[in-house]
Formats: sequence, structure tokens, C-alpha cells
Amino acid sequence: MSLLTNKRILLCSGGGIAAYKTPELVRRLRDQGADVHVMLTSAAQRFVSTLALEVVSKHPVGVDLWSTDGKSQIVHTDAGKDADVIIVAPATANLIARVRHGFADDLVTTTIMASDTPVLLCPSMNTDMLDNPLVRENIDALAALPRYRVLEPGKGDLACGVIGRGRMPDPIDIIEAARAALSPNDLSGRRVVVTAGPTREDLDPVRFITNRSTGTMGFALARAFGARGADVTLIAGPVAKRSPVGVARRVDFVTAADLERAVLSHVAGADLLVMAAAVADYRPATRSATKIKKQPGDMSLPLERTTDILASLVDNPVREGVTVVGFAAETDDVERRAKDKLKRKKMDWIVANDVSRRGVGFGTGDNEGLLVSATGVTHVLERADKQAFAERIVETLAAALVGQPS
Ligand code: CTP
Repeated sequence: MSLLTNKRILLCSGGGIAAYKTPELVRRLRDQGADVHVMLTSAAQRFVSTLALEVVSKHPVGVDLWSTDGKSQIVHTDAGKDADVIIVAPATANLIARVRHGFADDLVTTTIMASDTPVLLCPSMNTDMLDNPLVRENIDALAALPRYRVLEPGKGDLACGVIGRGRMPDPIDIIEAARAALSPNDLSGRRVVVTAGPTREDLDPVRFITNRSTGTMGFALARAFGARGADVTLIAGPVAKRSPVGVARRVDFVTAADLERAVLSHVAGADLLVMAAAVADYRPATRSATKIKKQPGDMSLPLERTTDILASLVDNPVREGVTVVGFAAETDDVERRAKDKLKRKKMDWIVANDVSRRGVGFGTGDNEGLLVSATGVTHVLERADKQAFAERIVETLAAALVGQPS
């Protein structure tokens, strides 16, 4: 189950060239389990076919204000109210102006006016239009209303031939914003530090020791905390990943020592520390300044221990008041080993994964495991894609934090 599972989303598209991207957006939302309904303005119908949208959404596409639903009921009054969130993408300058001024002269605007469902506006237009003071004023006025959330337009090649701001936000960002709109804001005011990704320890200028972590799990957790309103610091290893939308600040690390420094400087005063990073336990005892040349025969590498960051926090005053969540990636005897780590490193929670199973854990899209608390509660986390898996963890942690002073 993801936050979007069984959620009803109404996608309203205005007449911009980016309307051609909407079938892909519908498909991605449906991949997350959402039930997507679509309405097009008359101008949008010039850029995208109703047939394509009908086929991908599996519902008739609304285009006509005056049609009925076959039961003599005017469709617009219900479609907005029935939705959990309305996405306006692309939101053209014209459509934004009409919404801002309360117009209700076609199916899209009437539907928006006839409900109080949260609206995500995805402005999409050429840069000059976006910079026009009247357009700016309309966008700012809507952004100031609690019902409307305005996404930042993307940068890049625009249909008018210039490179600039004004592209429709990426589907991934729109989906993140939809997730945030549907999440309870129960972590607002809470400070959460999430570490993610592998460490990398140099042997020489061309070689290093690392591990199979891709950071996906930690990034998914950061996204899920951000969606619930937490103030998220993401401490990220060497992975080529964009920070999720809800992340307030990002600190990058390469080595276990960098990570240790970053954790120590951000953990004081946090409500939660989630150590999803896969930290090297050993690093090369020396780093050669020049490339190590091969020699006849075998070679062995002297390694030295890195600091166990979680263990080192146990007696550190900075840990006071911080709920600590660790991960245990195991290949055998998973639950016992995880519980052992939980005790040894005095964590409050541990997420245990069996990384020997095919298709879950490191480098895969899915995860499954156990979430075990120091108080003895064990939650079984069913197999799910890493985002849904993260949302399940965050939901449990959020429930546990409620009632604790912030
Ligand atoms: N961890 C840490 N510092 C380290 C190694 C691990 O803070 N130097 C954290 C990880 O981020 C994780 C938890 O400790 O949240 C457990 O990590 P893991 O490597 O599974 O446990 P270890 O205690 O290192 O045990 P082992 O490698 O022997 O299984």
C-alpha cells in the first residue's frame, strides 16, 4: 500500500503543449495505486487526445460542462468533491487567471470552484509569461490560499525554442506533491535526520571500497518524513540522486568519517535519527597518494576499524531526546541478529531486512522485513516497493512520536 493507493485523483489539464505529457502522468499515478479521472479544457484537447487519456485512466474523460452522467446528474458538481486531490497540469497562464478570479465557465473551472478539495497547480508556460507580473500575481495569490499548492515549474527546453523556466514539473515531483497533499501533517515541527547510501573508502586515487547500497531506502524515508511535514536533514552518500521535494537540507558524505562528523553536527536537538546508511566497518589503514602498482604474487590489504557511529552515540549527550532508528541488513538469523544490534547499540527501533532474498534489499526496488522496537513490539513489514515500505515505517514512527514532547 502506498499513500496513493485507492486515492481518487482528478487531473485537470489546460491548453499548453505540456498536455501531451499527461497520459504518462496518469500512468505513473495509477502505478502507485491511484484512481485517476481526467478533465480537459477545450484548448487542452488540441494537444492531447481524450482517447489516449481514457485508455490510460480507464475512465471517460470530462470535456463538456453540459453533459450529464447518464443519471440526469450534472457531472461537475461531484467530480471535484469526490477527489482526494485535484492536480492542475499543465496550469496555463489563462487557466491560472480564471481559477484565481473564480471563473466557472467550463468544466474544469466549474469543477474546481464547486469543491474545496486541495489543488496542486503545476504552472507550465513560456518564461516570459511566467515572469509577467500579472501571471506572477495570480500565482502568488493562489499560493497564499491554504487550498492551493503551487509547484515550481521545471527548467529546460521550452516549446517556443528558448531554454528557461516554465516546463511542466516532472511527473515524479507532481506525484511527490500529491503524496504530501494526502499525508497527515503530523510531523510538522519535528526534526528528522536521515542518513542514506553507501560509504566509499579510498585505497588510492583510482580505487575504493564500497558496498551495494544505492541510497533508495534512505531517500524514500526522507521523502516520506518530508511529506508528513517534518523538517528533514538528509545526509547522503555518493549516489547520483536528487533530493526529494520535502527535504529541507542535504549534507553529502563520502567516507564513514565524513558521515560521523555530519551526524554529530546535525543530531543535537533532533527528534529522530534514522541510520539507513550502509557504513563501512573497515577502511584501508592507509591511502596511497599514487596508484598502487601490481606486484608478482598475491597481496593483502591492511584494514582498520571505522567508528561505529550508532554505538558511539550511546553515551554522547547529543543523543539525549533523540529517538534512534537503525537498520540491520542480514543474510541469516535475521530477527535474532537485529534484536541483538538493537540492544547493543541502544537503538529505539530497528528495521531488519534479509538481504539474501531475491528481489529485496540492496540494489532492488522492493523491500520487506521487520520493524522492532526496544520495548518489544514487532511490526511485520510486508513486501512492497521501497517508497511504500518507507511510508509504512514512517507511519509507525509518527504514531510513536505523537504524544512525545517536540
Ligand atoms: N552503523 C553505524 N556505524 C558503523 C556501522 C553501522 O552507525 N560503522 C549503523 C548502520 O547505519 C545501521 C546499524 O548500525 O543502522 C547496523 O549496521 P550493520 O552494519 O548491519 O551492523 P553492525 O553493527 O556493523 O554489524 P555487522 O556488520 O557485524 O553485521
